[in-house]
Amino acid sequence: MDLPASTFALYAAGAAALTTSLVKLKSRLELSKAKHRSLTGHARIARRLAAQVPFYDYDETRFFRSDNAPEDVASLRRAGFMRLAELYGTRFEKSARLTDEAADYISDLQFTDTYRVPFQHSRFVREHLRAGAFAQATSDVTITDLDGNRFYDLAGSYGVNLLGYDFYKACIARAEERARELGPILGFYHPVVAENVRRLREISGLAEVSFHMSGTEAVMQAVRLARYHTRRSHLVRFAGAYHGWWGDVQPGVGNPVPARETYTLQDMSEDTLRILRRRRDIACVLVNPLQALKPNASDAADSALLDSERRAHFDRAAYAAWLAQLRAVCSERGIVLIFDEVFLGFRLAPSGAQEYFGVKADMVTYGKTVGGGLPIGVVCGRRDLMKRFRDDRPADICFARGTFNAHPYVMTAMHEFLTRMESAEVRALYDGLDATWDARAARLNARLRDADVPVQVANMSSVFMVTYTQPSRYNWMLQYYLRAEGLALSWIGTGRLIFSLNYTDADFDAVVERFVAAAQAMRRDGWWWRDPAATNKSIRRGILREMLAHRFFGRRA
Ligand SMILES: Cc1ncc(COP(=O)(O)O)c(C=O)c1O
Repeated sequence: MDLPASTFALYAAGAAALTTSLVKLKSRLELSKAKHRSLTGHARIARRLAAQVPFYDYDETRFFRSDNAPEDVASLRRAGFMRLAELYGTRFEKSARLTDEAADYISDLQFTDTYRVPFQHSRFVREHLRAGAFAQATSDVTITDLDGNRFYDLAGSYGVNLLGYDFYKACIARAEERARELGPILGFYHPVVAENVRRLREISGLAEVSFHMSGTEAVMQAVRLARYHTRRSHLVRFAGAYHGWWGDVQPGVGNPVPARETYTLQDMSEDTLRILRRRRDIACVLVNPLQALKPNASDAADSALLDSERRAHFDRAAYAAWLAQLRAVCSERGIVLIFDEVFLGFRLAPSGAQEYFGVKADMVTYGKTVGGGLPIGVVCGRRDLMKRFRDDRPADICFARGTFNAHPYVMTAMHEFLTRMESAEVRALYDGLDATWDARAARLNARLRDADVPVQVANMSSVFMVTYTQPSRYNWMLQYYLRAEGLALSWIGTGRLIFSLNYTDADFDAVVERFVAAAQAMRRDGWWWRDPAATNKSIRRGILREMLAHRFFGRRA
């Protein structure tokens, strides 16, 4: 049978369209498979669901019995809470008063204050347990608040404090001396810049360097350059990984618009490697090596500590093997492999995560500590990737300038930091570094076990995460007991403890004593009472029921 030409053309077009749709469907299915099953792997769904979560909070009765504990346990908790409130009111009086006065006008403070504990408990906690946001002094491993209380620093200035506060004070003092004559001029370099570049090239093993003002900007620049040179649109990040607050690296909750050119894929997964091998729109892969401690999980803030599901486990060899696989597939496919070492750079090894895991990246971002105590972001990269223009297309440029880039005071502080990093004293801190911190973590865990409290820590070198060994709705209270014992945590609470490398055994043992005392006090006050039938799942179900009841009926279930 002869088909008329027009019918044949129609069939052919139909078949071609069907084939294209099937290919697209297959590639979408592959992409879905490479996403982590949790909400951290599904940014769009997470944003939609988050937008539906209704606000409600607990009255005083429910505050102490959100897990339906018996009345005698609730009374114990109430008495413990009020004792703590009184202690906070007197011991932290000045710091708390100034915080109260300032909070109305500092939006950052309002945010951090509100998101220290799960939102249902937040108002009551804020009314009674004011965590002061001001401090008057620091020394090596301690912070002194306005009332003269000295805390061991477990907040680590978001990771900046790698070597103790006195170290950075010295860097800044020397920086000020060296930059004084040049002053705060911008657009001209202080001569130390050349030396900084030499050292950064050596540390990173990469040919070129650019300076920025924050880690977020360094990441933006690295991704922009990768897109420019590969002429591809998408970046790949791994579920849960933090890379600063720029929209493209924060596709889920927290970003008001969807990040359309970001793929959030599963860490340590064959499906992810398959996607990297097959897709042609991927410019770069961003790796935050901190994820080795908590693959596929977000930063574990106490505000999300609704149950005891938080998990952490560090396996250096497994993560190194994963990075080697990533390296191979990126090389094969011309994808730019970017290590984001803004947080971990210099903490694991003098030459950072590349050295520690034995894998070479195409670009590396640094920040935080490398500024010697002043604000900084750095990109190091292969020469061909760092170039911001094309020799054969004069109008095709990749623009990136910043007013304060390479500020003389920051550059001289960085110079001091990098110089001191080469000293025998600092180098000695890296000898047996992991063994030292693993032994310390083990010591803390043994003491916590002996004290019979449901708390443990997991660590990746000097970064610790607190985990909880039995289901509970009140684990977030631990941060307030820790503070009462003189331990300063960052606003994410027990989700991350950051130790500076200059902690001595005696300092660490003092932290252990205080930590165990805090956990014991919390247990005595009844917060870890447990309904034997409760599981993490049943806790989450109960909270979901509450939310649905408030969403649809405006009340508690
Ligand atoms: C891995 C990583 N990348 C980027 C950033 C952003 O750096 P900054 O806060 O200096 O903008 C951070 C900050 O915590 C980080 O941990």
